[in-house]
Amino acid sequence: LGEQLFTYKGQVFPVADTYELTTEYIDSLEHFEIKDSDVVLVTFPKSGTVWTQRIITLLFEDDFPEEANQTTFVRMPWLEILEKGKTYTERPSPRLFCSHLHQELMPKGLQKKRAKVIYVTRNPKDILVSYFHFSKFMKNLDSPEHYDEMLDKFFCGWMLGGCWFDHVRGWYNNQDKYNIMFLSYEEMIKDLRSVVERLAEFVGKSLSDAAIDSIVEKVTFNNMKKDDKANYEFLPEIVNDKKKGKFLRKGEENKKCLEALLLKLIHEKHEYRFVLVSGGGGGGAEK
Ligand code: PPS
Repeated sequence: LGEQLFTYKGQVFPVADTYELTTEYIDSLEHFEIKDSDVVLVTFPKSGTVWTQRIITLLFEDDFPEEANQTTFVRMPWLEILEKGKTYTERPSPRLFCSHLHQELMPKGLQKKRAKVIYVTRNPKDILVSYFHFSKFMKNLDSPEHYDEMLDKFFCGWMLGGCWFDHVRGWYNNQDKYNIMFLSYEEMIKDLRSVVERLAEFVGKSLSDAAIDSIVEKVTFNNMKKDDKANYEFLPEIVNDKKKGKFLRKGEENKKCLEALLLKLIHEKHEYRFVLVSGGGGGGAEK
């Protein structure tokens, strides 16, 4: 994992001096007081977090006109990434949060089923590709040289967010405990307007067609890329090497040829594991 990440209760977190990111803080989130009006966006990293975050902050723009010039990171912070010396308790309602937490680490108050949870998934193949590039410009991440190394990280859960399978399974299998809406990155690519409409309805916002159109326009890939409140180019140079890549990188589903390459790699990895297991009694694995 390197020195810049740590693992706790099956999840992987960044080491961040300026944030309250400790095992004690993560444990304390279990009892973090949830308000009925809270809205929490949950994702495995690289699944469409900042895109959905932008849509949600725009849906609530009228509630906080004074925050219109703030970045989305400030308007809708990560629950588990609290700036030192700050508290979320006094944030004005409705409080908007993002989170990459696994289901079992989330505040139990969400299970009263009043606050709203939005869970966004993405094809893991595209998560892997996105993370591969992301780790090149995020200075606190080990950057794999090749996709097979990335694939190892993915299968072992040695990446921010931990194990993708556990993350998705945890939220999906426990959905009955929450007031939750599931969305996918692919649906957003396919029909952004209908996703914005459904999100508006879920969070209780009744907007005119023109207001919905305006949000859709603002969050297209090309427009969001230019939006300095939402494109994450505001992250400090100390974590984000802007010469090596952009947070809003490509914003689409990846090409079939890459899929074929990854399927081939996955196939090889499975074979590798199989050989290891079946070869255990004899002279060891050959591969
Ligand atoms: S993170 O680090 O977990 O917050 O990353 P996350 O926001 O979940 O995922 C980043 C990917 O989302 C893409 N993205 C978008 N795609 C389409 N349209 C819009 N507006 C948009 N905004 C962000 C971003 O480009 C990353 O995907 P890749 O495949 O790397 O381009």
